[in-house]
Amino acid sequence: MSNITMIGTGYIGLVTGTLFADKGNNVTCVDKNQEIVELLNSGKIHIFEPGLEELVKKNRKENRIKFTEKLDLSDSEFIFLGVNTPSNKEGSFNLEYLLSAAREIGRALKNVSGYKIIVGKSTVPQGTHKLIEEIINKELKRNYYLIVIRVIFIEKR
Ligand SMILES: NC(=O)c1ccc[n+]([C@@H]2O[C@H](COP(=O)([O-])OP(=O)(O)OC[C@H]3O[C@@H](n4cnc5c(N)ncnc54)[C@H](O)[C@@H]3O)[C@@H](O)[C@H]2O)c1
Repeated sequence: MSNITMIGTGYIGLVTGTLFADKGNNVTCVDKNQEIVELLNSGKIHIFEPGLEELVKKNRKENRIKFTEKLDLSDSEFIFLGVNTPSNKEGSFNLEYLLSAAREIGRALKNVSGYKIIVGKSTVPQGTHKLIEEIINKELKRNYYLIVIRVIFIEKR
């Protein structure tokens, strides 16, 4: 089983992170929004998703999922980017949150060795992985090769 960090704990991050935990992985969900983190740590959830609150409770109790504002990637094997990428007025993507999360990843990896797999879950224009790679490498001051995986989950029925 893997150590997974989910950056952004909204609709995508909370659902995906909880399901990873329920499959037996150790998941750390990171969010910048203190109110969301506090609510999740109190056993409640901030989004409407039937059945999710119970699943979060179960996995918290079994110590497979935790919620924090602090990004610590020392033990993380997989880093998922699930932050918001809202549309600008003219229809283009606002990548401000995503690129800022990339900078935070670069800083958090500075004194960390070993490989990490960074996975994009946010919706972005084609080629955005290059920007993320550049930002991480700039922060790190060494080359980090980014493996870009776009994940789509299909539930078996
Ligand atoms: N919601 C959906 O049904 C859906 C479906 C397909 C794709 N997506 C895509 O997934 C991405 C996430 O969507 P969502 O609906 O979950 O958004 P959301 O707004 O519900 O959640 C995003 C979370 O990221 C947090 N965040 C922002 N910057 C951060 C940072 N630097 N570090 C930590 N946390 C940070 C925000 O506080 C917020 O809680 C978007 O790109 C969206 O387009 C969403």
